[in-house]
Amino acid sequence: MVPGERPNPWRLILLGAPGVGKGTQAELLTERLGACHLSTGDIFRAAGKRKDCDQSPAIRAALEYMRRGELVPDSTVWEMVRERSDCILCRGGFILDGFPRTLGQAESLKDLMEKEKLSLSAVVDYELPVDEIVQRLSGRRTCEECKSVFHVKERPPKVEAVCDHCGGRLFHREDDRPEAITVRLEAYERSTAPLIQFYKNLGLLLPIVAKGSPDEILARTMEKMDKLADDR
Ligand code: AP5
Repeated sequence: MVPGERPNPWRLILLGAPGVGKGTQAELLTERLGACHLSTGDIFRAAGKRKDCDQSPAIRAALEYMRRGELVPDSTVWEMVRERSDCILCRGGFILDGFPRTLGQAESLKDLMEKEKLSLSAVVDYELPVDEIVQRLSGRRTCEECKSVFHVKERPPKVEAVCDHCGGRLFHREDDRPEAITVRLEAYERSTAPLIQFYKNLGLLLPIVAKGSPDEILARTMEKMDKLADDR
């Protein structure tokens, strides 16, 4: 569904470590704001479901990086994002979930937005202690069909292993194995955490404590966004 035009669309980046709840909040924010949702992780997972002969060498390599928990090279990520630049140009705004993840990606996005005369509204940075992140990741289950995210304890589906929304099968992501989680957290610290300072310097950072239920975190996020809109 292509969101419609809005008077003051939100153009948001969701930052935060793997498993902090970006995808869950992106789902809730998309519903609330009517913006376009772009998740680079979902794009790669969808490409991984294509037949082998329909996968380019770059995608096959990207899936290997993902399986190990490492970041996919910037050139491949940027190619995938550029193919979906309609989302960035969407008049209803956008929510970027899992992108950008390196300073190089952030610079590419900035150049594209400047060229299109668009500006970011805010960068929401979700914060949570590592032990809670690991608990969230190890209990996560994802719908094979509609990509909805559940948690075996915190957000269980009504019927075990079945998606509440579309009846699809829920699966445990390969990169949620303990060894891949460690690699992902290291990659986050090394390559993505520097973006916090980058966006702080641009006056765009909105730090949000990611404790509590998804609805509580959404309310906290909306409160800060409303305040930002009033201040501007
Ligand atoms: P990606 O799919 O983006 O994964 P991620 O950033 O590692 O984030 P996750 O999806 O693991 O977690 P999340 O923060 O969205 O949490 P969620 O809402 O699911 O990327 C995967 C891989 O693709 C990367 O490792 C990399 O290889 C590659 N990649 C993607 N983009 C890239 C890029 N730009 N550059 C390079 N490589 C890239 O929540 C987690 C669990 O917690 C769920 O079970 C959920 O139900 C539960 N939960 C959520 N909120 C709460 C809450 N408030 N209370 C209790 N439980 C909660």
